[in-house]
Amino acid sequence: MRLYHFVLLAGTGIVIAAIAAFTLYGGGTGGNRLASIGGPFALVDHKGQPKTDKDFRGRYMLIYFGYTYCPDVCPTALQSITQAMDRLNVETQKRITPIFITIDPERDTARQLNAYVENFHPNLVGLTGTAEEIAKTARIYRVYFGRAKDAVEESTDYLVDHSSIVFLMNPNGKYVTHFTHTTPPRKIAEQLAKVVGS
Ligand code: NI
Repeated sequence: MRLYHFVLLAGTGIVIAAIAAFTLYGGGTGGNRLASIGGPFALVDHKGQPKTDKDFRGRYMLIYFGYTYCPDVCPTALQSITQAMDRLNVETQKRITPIFITIDPERDTARQLNAYVENFHPNLVGLTGTAEEIAKTARIYRVYFGRAKDAVEESTDYLVDHSSIVFLMNPNGKYVTHFTHTTPPRKIAEQLAKVVGS
């Protein structure tokens, strides 16, 4: 093989790899990029039981990241999820697990989550974990969070800024679509009925 053939072949390989990466990571469309949202996690539920993403296989998941001390956005989102679920028939509800993953594991212990999830849909599962595992899980869902700038170091009274997105994942743990805390429950319910069926 002459050198320039090799260079040509290598060049073609690089172009193919680049196209593959572009397609895989969704350089072209938002849809492809969103398709890579989600993945494995290992956390602890509001009953103190270890839970991984695999424990939720076979059911749709409505995943929301937030924290129990959140004054407004998180309760709004979880209320919307609850109201949307309540609009569905019981069989459809059984096929969906709403999941609240804390981004404030320091204060949101299993016990704290256990009291909090009581306020919302009975299927709601609260998840907490180590700071590292929570950060990793947020990362694979492309969720941003950070303690608010005016937070006083060492204080236990602080706000946490965070993305507010409700992810609908299918029974294989793959991304389907998403909502926000401002999506009307009626709209969420319509979408769920369409995707999950009855
Ligand atoms: Ni919040």
